[in-house]
Amino acid sequence: MTDVITPAFQPLDIETLAAAEGRVVVLAPDEGSMDKGARRVNRLTKGALERLLGSDGFGKLKAGEAMSLAWPVGMAAEAVDVVKIEKRLTPELARKVGATIGAKLNGKAVTVIAGSHRNLDQLALGAMLRAYAFVAHKTGEAGEVKDSALTLLTTQPDQWTPTVAGIKALADGVFLTRDLVNEPSNVLTTTEFAKRAEGLKELGVEVEVLEEADLEKLGMRALLAVGQGSESPSKVVVMQWKGGKDGDAPVALIGKGVCFDSGGISIKPAGGMEDMTMDMGGAGTVTGVMKALAGRKAAANVVGLIGLVENMPDGKAQRPGDIVTTMKGDTVEVINTDAEGRMVLCDVLWYAQERFSPVAMVDLATLTGACVIALGHENAGVFSNDDDFCRDFLKAAETEEEGAWRLPLSPAYDKALESAKADFKHVGGRPAGATTAAQFLQRFVKDGVPWIHLDIAGVADVKSPTALAPKGATGWGVRALNRLIADNYEG
Ligand code: BES
Ligand code: ZN
Ligand code: ZN
Repeated sequence: MTDVITPAFQPLDIETLAAAEGRVVVLAPDEGSMDKGARRVNRLTKGALERLLGSDGFGKLKAGEAMSLAWPVGMAAEAVDVVKIEKRLTPELARKVGATIGAKLNGKAVTVIAGSHRNLDQLALGAMLRAYAFVAHKTGEAGEVKDSALTLLTTQPDQWTPTVAGIKALADGVFLTRDLVNEPSNVLTTTEFAKRAEGLKELGVEVEVLEEADLEKLGMRALLAVGQGSESPSKVVVMQWKGGKDGDAPVALIGKGVCFDSGGISIKPAGGMEDMTMDMGGAGTVTGVMKALAGRKAAANVVGLIGLVENMPDGKAQRPGDIVTTMKGDTVEVINTDAEGRMVLCDVLWYAQERFSPVAMVDLATLTGACVIALGHENAGVFSNDDDFCRDFLKAAETEEEGAWRLPLSPAYDKALESAKADFKHVGGRPAGATTAAQFLQRFVKDGVPWIHLDIAGVADVKSPTALAPKGATGWGVRALNRLIADNYEG
C-alpha cells in the first residue's frame, strides 16, 4: 500500500525559515507582491526573490506554475520554489498549487509559507495526491519508499489542523484505488483483490466474500460464465459501511472487477492488451470510496459490491453464441465474449437491489472502448435514469474537477439488443456502443431506483500525468463519490 503523507499545519514563524531544510515554497500573487514570509525569504537571500519576481520568466508563468531558486544563499534549504497564484486562492487553484508542490516532494521536506491564504486543506490534498508513486515492483533505489514531509506555515493552524483527518482519509481511498489499478494481473488476482478488500475490516467495514458456490446458488450465471475460462475463482465482495441511522437503506456502489480482460474466446489483438490489467478499475474505485468513507467515519450507510472475475480463453471458457440465464431470470445471447463487463455488472446490480433495496445506485466500469472514442481521457461517460440524482453527481464531480459528461439513454436504442433466440443479446454493434451497453445494464435496474452508470474506460488509467496524478491509475471518481455521499446522504 502506497502511504499518504500527513501534512502538518504550523504557526507562521518567520524566524524558522532560515533553518528550514529541503524545499521552501513561496506563494506569490501575479503582481509579484510579497507577504511577510516572502519578505523574510527575500531578506535572507539578499534580494534574489525580488529579482525572480521581477523577471520575464516569472511574468510569463500561469497561476499554479513555479520557478525555483536553487541553493539560495542565507538559507539551509536546497531550493526556494516560487509558485505564482492569484490574489484569492480558490479551491481549484489551491489544488493546482498543491499539485505543483507534490510533484517535487519525492522524499523531501517541504515547507510552504501559506500565510493567511484560504483553502489550505485543498492545497495539502493536491500535494498529497500528486506525490503518489507506484514503486512496488521496482528494485534498487527506485523501489525505495522515501519519507516526505509537508509543513504548511499558516496564521490559522487551529483552523486547518482539524481538516487533516478528512483529507488523509480521502487520499488513503484514492491511493488504494490507484494501487489496485496499477497492480499487474499476476499479482492482483481475484483472490488477492478480495484479500485487499478484506483489509477494510480494520476500519470497521463489514466485508463478505461470496465464492463461486454461493454465486451459483444465487443464480449469477452471467457473471460466472465470464470467469469460467480462468484459473482464478470468480467472487463477489460485499463491503458495508454502516455510519448512518440503523435501518436506513444504503446507497449502493457497484464495480466491474475484471482482473484481466483478454477478451476471452473473442480474444483482443496483442497491441495494448497489457492495458487490460486495469479492467478492474470500477471495483478499484468502489473499494477506494469505501476506504475513504470509513476512514473519515462518514455518517451514511453505504454498501459497495464488486464482481471479481478474470476473462480468459480456455477449453472451459464461454463461447460466442452461448445463451446464459442471469440472476434476474432473463436469458442473454452472448455475441462477443469481450463484452464481459456488462455480464458481470448485471448480476451484481440485481443482487444489490434484491438484498439491500438501496435508496440509490451507482455503478462504475471500464466498460467500452466506444466511451473512450466519444470522450477521450477528459471525461467519464455518465448515464442515468434520474435527473435529480444525476445533477447531484455532476455537481460533486465538477466541484472535485473530475471530468464527467452525461450521455443519452433512450428506449430507441433497445432495438440493437434484440435476439432471435434469447430474451435479448448483450451487444448492439458499433453505433452508440457506450449507450447500448448502458441500455443493457438498465434492464437490471428496478423501476423507481435512482441509478447512475459511470463508464470510466477513458479516465481510470491514463498514459500521461493528469492534474493530480502521475501517469497510470488516476483514482478518478473517489473524490466525486465521496462528495456525493457527504453532500447528499449525511447529516
Ligand atoms: N474492458 C473493455 C473496454 C475498455 C476499452 C476498457 C478500452 C478500457 C479501455 C471491455 O470489456 C470491452 O472489451 N468492450 C468491447 C465491447 C464490444 C466487444 C461490444 C469494446 O469496447 O470494444
Ligand atoms: Zn472486454
Ligand atoms: Zn472489460
